[in-house]
Amino acid sequence: MKVYGLSPEEVSALFTEGMVEIAVYGLGKMGLPLAAVFAERGARVTGVDINRSVVDAVNRGVNHIKGEPMLDELVRRNVEAGRLRATTDAPGAARRADVMVILVPVVLTPENRPDLRALESACRSIAQGIEEGDMVIVETTLPPGTTAGKVRSILESSGLRAGEDFGLAHCPERAMTGRVVRDIMGAYPKIVGGIDRRSTEAAMGIYRAVNSRGVIPVASATTAEMVKVAEGVYRDVNIAIANELAIVSRKHGVNIWEVIRAANTQPYCNLHLPGAGVGGHCIPVYPWFIIDDDTRLLRTAREVNDSMSDYLVSRLEEMLKREGERLEGNEIAVVGLTYRPGVKETYHSPARLVIKHLRRRGARVYGYDPLLTEDEIRSTMGVEPLNGGKVRWAVCLHSNGHEFGVKAERKIELRQIFS
Ligand SMILES: NC(=O)c1ccc[n+]([C@@H]2O[C@H](COP(=O)([O-])OP(=O)(O)OC[C@H]3O[C@@H](n4cnc5c(N)ncnc54)[C@H](O)[C@@H]3O)[C@@H](O)[C@H]2O)c1
Repeated sequence: MKVYGLSPEEVSALFTEGMVEIAVYGLGKMGLPLAAVFAERGARVTGVDINRSVVDAVNRGVNHIKGEPMLDELVRRNVEAGRLRATTDAPGAARRADVMVILVPVVLTPENRPDLRALESACRSIAQGIEEGDMVIVETTLPPGTTAGKVRSILESSGLRAGEDFGLAHCPERAMTGRVVRDIMGAYPKIVGGIDRRSTEAAMGIYRAVNSRGVIPVASATTAEMVKVAEGVYRDVNIAIANELAIVSRKHGVNIWEVIRAANTQPYCNLHLPGAGVGGHCIPVYPWFIIDDDTRLLRTAREVNDSMSDYLVSRLEEMLKREGERLEGNEIAVVGLTYRPGVKETYHSPARLVIKHLRRRGARVYGYDPLLTEDEIRSTMGVEPLNGGKVRWAVCLHSNGHEFGVKAERKIELRQIFS
């Protein structure tokens, strides 16, 4: 049943009664859990993906995303119950659905510009099937202004008008890998921003039915976009502060972890942790959505965080020198290749830059990560896997790197880099 123009209470009731048909575009790490939770809460859901093997797996009731608690069971149960299915027919799914939710990736081009092609393609498919009374929601994190600008204009190529014939809102996905189902169901409230009041209200109704913490309506779709970008930028800048403080603390012979622990007991201080850099789909990406001539701090924070890999390799070189060794020709294993511990994701992983700087200085580099297969280490990092072998040096990029079973005569952890 169409939801645009109804009150939040009416939409929530229809949703839980199974009267709302939803299409979720993008069945990846965020989209599949979202589709499964929508179905679990009562909606009839069609997941749309361009990847045929993902679609086939979902239709068999198989979750293809690993490491997400509850997701196997949610996908299996809802496919069996007939509430969740998948298709590659993107316009067809839009024709059937009352609500279309977009959760396809936006990545960066080599020039650090947002690559909106997946988003535009999903919007074009939706424009082919959109009807009066439908609601379109974008959950993908976007440069502020994209929902009310580019997304709206592609959808209006259908001949229908956003804010008159159909609703349009931005409701950013704030979940974290490894706890996505829990986050979607209500670890924190959902931010909801429509291009008009009726869009906001319809979106509120949907997410109130899903998120036990409720929703926070904001003034506009652009405000909602800004909220999500601000969350990411806050962390990037905060990590840059921690990184600079780590470098300065070392110069003073002070332990940065002790400093952070003590400083954060004051309620207005929330220092993050230093490290080899910042990785993943989110934090190193979102600052670029808003960096321009007016955002000197954000650009500097990016530069600081990206320079940490070079700092780390310089420190390693000093350590080797003290032992009468050189990086050139030495065997070094980089341990902890994913962008953070416990998450199988290598997008923008700092390990890649560490490997690059080590190679530039002539080291023979190997990779090790218990979450990656040998082939994955070769294809994502371009290094030979260490598995089973022994090297002279290993540098652990994750705070829990020392737990990895690497055979190395000398293991260097981040703490030693900064001390
Ligand atoms: N990964 C995270 O930790 C995270 C956290 C919060 C928010 N997000 C947001 O979610 C977005 C998606 O991230 P993800 O981790 O789910 O990505 P992902 O790479 O795991 O999955 C994306 C899926 O979209 C599919 N796809 C690509 N183009 C498509 C199209 N035109 N139509 C239909 N399907 C298409 C891909 O085949 C893939 O299955 C991110 O860009 C970000 O804005 C991600």
